[in-house]
Amino acid sequence: MIVKPECVLGLATGSSPIGTYKGLVERYKAGKISFAGVTTVNLDEYKGLSGTHDQSYRYFMQHNLFDHIDVRPECTHVPNGLAEDAEAECARYDAFVRSLGCADLQLLGVGRNGHIGFNEPCDEFVVPTHVVDLTESTIEANARFFASRDEVPRQALTMGIGVIMGAKKIVMVASGADKADAVYGMVKGPVNPQLPASILQLHPDVTLVADKAALSKM
Ligand code: F6R
Repeated sequence: MIVKPECVLGLATGSSPIGTYKGLVERYKAGKISFAGVTTVNLDEYKGLSGTHDQSYRYFMQHNLFDHIDVRPECTHVPNGLAEDAEAECARYDAFVRSLGCADLQLLGVGRNGHIGFNEPCDEFVVPTHVVDLTESTIEANARFFASRDEVPRQALTMGIGVIMGAKKIVMVASGADKADAVYGMVKGPVNPQLPASILQLHPDVTLVADKAALSKM
């Protein structure tokens, strides 16, 4: 059943949503769903990577979802990693997502260090969409996708906590033992910017989809 054919979907990259995207493509190919009226807004993009770089998040989205469904290309949005003025691009993107009323449904993964989008552990929650220095933990975790650790970009453009929390519904997917500490802290710990996902405790409609390994510290 399609509840809102013209919805705004907030999308994530990484390994966590791949199964979700496969399932959506299967349903689309079986004629069960259409994305013709959908607008998508992605969480983040590496600074310095073009959309054609095979590790850019734009490229990931094209190959894992957009190229296989009927979403209109002009309705798919990812921050521009090549923008000359990355801060201005973040401000533009933030205003754009807000102009849509934020996502109807935001899909999230969680970093081993508890990041959401690329909102890294920090002394305070960063509300606006911003340029962020990736932590060593994130560079390490994402090195698996690059030829070498040195090739992992050191900065990214990420939706801030403001527009993520502005989503009407949030679905987080977490799997594997390396997410267990983050999942525990997110659900049971105090709301703390050192574990950014803990802010989700303050959101009224979050669904966590996790495997046993990710829940093993609960
Ligand atoms: C990706 C993103 C990140 C990932 C997180 C988990 O767009 O925003 O927060 O969701 O790093 O990555 P995976 O799923 O690869 O473990």
